[in-house]
Amino acid sequence: MPFASDRVRAVAWREEALELLDQRLLPGEIRYQRLLSAEEVAQAIREMVVRGAPAIGITAAYGVVLAAKARYHQDPPHWRELVEADIRQLAASRPTAVNLFWALQRMGQRIKNVEGPPVAQLLAEAQAIHQEDITANQRMGELGAALLGERTAVLTHCNAGALATGGYGTALGVIRSGFAAGLIERVYADETRPWLQGARLTAWELMQDGIPVTLLADGAASALLHQGKVCWVIVGADRIAANGDVANKIGTYHLAIAARYHGVRFMVVAPASTVDISLQDGTAIPIEQRAAEELLSLGGQPVAAAGAEVWNPSFDVTPAALIDALVTERGVVLRPDGEKMAGLMAPATNG
Ligand code: MRU
Repeated sequence: MPFASDRVRAVAWREEALELLDQRLLPGEIRYQRLLSAEEVAQAIREMVVRGAPAIGITAAYGVVLAAKARYHQDPPHWRELVEADIRQLAASRPTAVNLFWALQRMGQRIKNVEGPPVAQLLAEAQAIHQEDITANQRMGELGAALLGERTAVLTHCNAGALATGGYGTALGVIRSGFAAGLIERVYADETRPWLQGARLTAWELMQDGIPVTLLADGAASALLHQGKVCWVIVGADRIAANGDVANKIGTYHLAIAARYHGVRFMVVAPASTVDISLQDGTAIPIEQRAAEELLSLGGQPVAAAGAEVWNPSFDVTPAALIDALVTERGVVLRPDGEKMAGLMAPATNG
């Protein structure tokens, strides 16, 4: 892998345990948590030790492996029934990123076909999910970079990089491939309040790779787009509805509005596992509400009027009409709508 940051894995299976890079400590400290139970995995997802839609899905898949190991040890004939409760616990960890439910469903299907002791077979499935995500990201990197068209600066939001995925990244995968092709001169990264994924994670990833990055406060984005230096906004996604509406980190929607106003193109990069064709449009996407504390304090220090009421949605929904290009490993959809999304997600036919 040519990029330094991509050697740091957010999620790794090592010596019969799941290791998660504690993203709450970045960029100050690189420390892995070693997890041995599904309960610990659910807690780590809930508390944002690991975050980013694909990384959450991969983590949950490994969580099922840990659950099967414990349940098979506890009661070999009944491990399948017992694991169901662990899967429910993992599913309750965060609501918006559909990759979590997608990965749990895939592991659930694999469980049905397990013969004999389950751990090795389920571990192989979780590792396949992990590897397929990296391969998808590399493919999306190529497809998205091919859309850029000219050497330009780009703007991104949150962290849709190696840290948010199995490796390489979705939006940052396109940025990595575009930079390698000489098409990206600079990345502007929104700091991404309140959790600062842009300031802490995206800037860290890009700096390690030697990709020029400039941080800005979220509220500075429209002024940046007005300057005319940025030709593309490139973001990831947590869930994409059947009509192409996209849920992503809070603040994405106003970037899409500002991009359209300024004639800047808007690209969403996400694997097919982020598409939820069961939801007709974005209004049905469950939006996670997070603790008031995330806005009332910063780094443990109070920063707001004590007792102020808080609205803290973690995601917003960008209407499909504001999206110029949706990049998946299955291909690119320009100006997504229901028909194009259905075509993208239709099962491949032979000949
Ligand atoms: O709350 P987070 O950090 O899990 O939110 C992450 C995002 O919104 C990302 O943009 C999205 O998951 C895509 S990651 C490839």
